[in-house]
Amino acid sequence: MSSKAVPAVGLTGGVADGLNNIDTWIYRRTCAQFTTGITVVTTLDSHGHPHGMTVNSFSSVSLDPPLVLVSIDLKNAILGHFISSSWFAINILAEHQEDLSRRFSSPSENRFIDLNWHAGPSGTPLLDGVLAQLECSVVSTFEAGDHTVLIGEVRRAGHTEGKPLVFFDSAYRQLR
Ligand SMILES: Cc1cc2nc3c(=O)[nH]c(=O)nc-3n(C[C@H](O)[C@H](O)[C@H](O)COP(=O)(O)O)c2cc1C
Repeated sequence: MSSKAVPAVGLTGGVADGLNNIDTWIYRRTCAQFTTGITVVTTLDSHGHPHGMTVNSFSSVSLDPPLVLVSIDLKNAILGHFISSSWFAINILAEHQEDLSRRFSSPSENRFIDLNWHAGPSGTPLLDGVLAQLECSVVSTFEAGDHTVLIGEVRRAGHTEGKPLVFFDSAYRQLR
């Protein structure tokens, strides 16, 4: 069988330069076809200040034990707070919370100003009014390429009724 890479029939893009050198733009556009929800991942720093960022790389990893992961860009200033903390929380956004996604992905001195939130049992900031929430203890962090993968064991989880905010093809969407 030939190892020469060819674009898949009927798909836009394909393989740019053999199997070892996928074009970054094609890679990004292709991954953007995978629909995700949107979360705000939060933690506390050593001074007790809350931090959070918008994340759609959230995934469940294991049922027993209950493990989840998020992947954080090494360039993100907030990364150090997650690495040095023992806890983080995943806040899964509801369909009306696009403003929260924008707030937590934009530069700001304090993304929690004028925001309704409370501290969970671990002290981790929990945003009010979200669709679902998981409070996690950090069990592992490791670098993978230009990101750090954060693995957490879920210690508390809860959800409410409603619809999620959805991200597809690099745009915010709502379920019909
Ligand atoms: C919908 C959406 C999803 C995102 N997902 C991630 C992600 O999974 N990992 C990541 O490192 N950054 C992600 N970002 C970018 C961060 O939210 C953004 O870079 C943020 O400013 C980082 O926080 P910092 O500036 O305090 O370091 C996402 C942004 C948006 C709008």
